[in-house]
Formats: sequence, C-alpha cells, structure tokens
Amino acid sequence: MRVLVTEPQPGKGIDLLKARYDVTVGQRGDYDSEERLKEVIGSYDALLSCLSTPVTGEVLRAGEKLRIVSNYAVGYNNIDVETAKELGILVSNTPDVLTEATADCAFTLLLSVARRMREAEDSLRAGEFDGWHPFGFLGTEVSGKNCGILGMGRIGRAFARRARGFGMKVLYHDTAQLSEADEKKYGATWVDSVDDLVSRSDFLSLHCPLTPETRHAINRERLAMMKPEAILINTARGPVVDEAALAEALHEKRIGGAGLDVFEKEPKVHPDLLTAPNCVLLPHIASATRETRARMSALAASSIISHLEGKPDDAIPTLVYRRES
Ligand code: GLV
Ligand code: GLV
Repeated sequence: MRVLVTEPQPGKGIDLLKARYDVTVGQRGDYDSEERLKEVIGSYDALLSCLSTPVTGEVLRAGEKLRIVSNYAVGYNNIDVETAKELGILVSNTPDVLTEATADCAFTLLLSVARRMREAEDSLRAGEFDGWHPFGFLGTEVSGKNCGILGMGRIGRAFARRARGFGMKVLYHDTAQLSEADEKKYGATWVDSVDDLVSRSDFLSLHCPLTPETRHAINRERLAMMKPEAILINTARGPVVDEAALAEALHEKRIGGAGLDVFEKEPKVHPDLLTAPNCVLLPHIASATRETRARMSALAASSIISHLEGKPDDAIPTLVYRRES
C-alpha cells in the first residue's frame, strides 16, 4: 500500500509507516497546492497531511484509492470533512497529545502581553536600560482578574488550570455547559453568551475550533464590547478574529493588547498588526515542543496503520467522524 507524507516531521511516525508501506515523503511546500495534490493523490491509499495541505473536495475526489487522511494537527479546517464523509474517506487528527504545550503557549502570551515583555526586552537590547525605574514598563496584574475562555474543550480546560494557578477568576462560554463536577474541577463559571464573556473578561483567550459559527466571532462589535484594558489571546485559528478590526482597536488603544499565534491568512500577517502597540505575535508555534511534535507524529501514523490493518473505526480514537455501520 502507498502512503503520501506531505513533508518531513519530527518523531518516529514516518519510520513506523516506512516499516509497513511504500511511503513517499515530500519536501516542505511540495504539496501546498490543490493542483499538485490532485495530480498525485490517485495512487495513494493514505495521506499524512499538515495544516498547509489543502485537502479540498476536489483532492478527495481525485483520491480514487484514498481511504484515510491523517492530519498532523488537532485542527482540521484544511480538510473538507463533509466531502470525505460522502466518499467514506476517514479523517483523523492529533488531539490530547498537544493540549499542554498549546495551553502553555497561550498562557505565555497572556503573561508576555500583560507584562509588556516584548517592548521591555526590545528596549534593553536597544541599549536603553538605565537602571530600575518606578515607571518602567508598567504592565497589568493577572492575579484576581477575570480570565474569559471561549471554547472549553481540552485546551480551554488546560488553560483554565493555568489561569486558576495564577489566581485568576475563570469564566467560560462554549456551545454546551460543562458538568457541575467539571465546573468545580476547573473552578470555571459558565457565562451564557459570547457577548457577556467578551464584556466581562480582563483577558480573553480563544480555544474554539474554526467553524462557520466561530468565523469572526471576535468582530468589530465584540471588540467594542471589550474593556479598555482587556487583552485578547488567540492560539486557536486566525479567522476566529477579524484581524483588520483588531488592528484598528489596538492602534486606537480601545483594548489593552493582544497575543496571537495564529493569523487570518497565514503565513501573511496583517501589516497593521505588525505596527500595533502591545502585541506579541508568534509564527504558529503553540504545539512546537520536541515532545509534543514526536507524540503527534506517532499518533498520526498509528491512525493510518490501524485503519489500513483493518481495525474497526471504533478502535481508532482520533477519527473526527465515524462512518455509519
Ligand atoms: C495547530 O494549529 C493544530 O491544529 O494542531
Ligand atoms: C525590584 O526589583 C524591587 O526590589 O522592588
């Protein structure tokens, strides 16, 4: 059987596949276009894709032998899951293994923006440090503040644990409320609308998937509801935020700052964000630890192996949908 891996990755996943199948490993960028994928996909039984791989309906339809697409990421908005379902092609992702790394990165952004780390360090490196200063780079305290979490899945909950550890009050909203036991466990208080969450948060961190409902959830109107000192953190997906409206709010100092790991049109970053005050911008690295990326690799490969070896769908916990039997 033949497996296409779009680009090299850390971890042992590719070796696990090579031990069993005829594996093609592309170079970074080789399979970032729909045209190129359509040309080659017809001869493969499985595809190990990255977020930059456009697994569109046309690509899936060209995959005459294709049985499974395993995405080297927890998010899978690069894949047309509806068409995959129609065609009976399985789709899997890498949940759980990147939860802690991603929550760490989101909390790092929160602290960095709260304490103006980037500006302060830039100033020191520019030779401007002239000793301790009563007014030097005053930031904002996190302890005692309201930490709003939009999307209380695995990563949202891991973020809540961190926020609690730093003495914050955790508020959250999602499509469904947690059980009472889970609310207690995470010390989290349900807020029944996005508007309320946005307007009550001193820090607002996004942990929802990108769906038609969450696209531009943080739009101009919601940005206008935020407290003037509030800080927005996004490690979810860029299009959850209207980036132009965010850049405007930051430049006009209508909110306190932003920490972003994801962007609306990656790898492009809105030019007005690059010049916005109190902004920390990262190149989509939230899951980038050696440990996590190795676990993602093993998990992404194991989903392919399980399916090609004939295991039932129920035995593959990473499937994003289950076929009706
Ligand atoms: C990264 O953004 C992922 O979805 O894993
Ligand atoms: C800060 O360095 C302090 O001693 O207050």
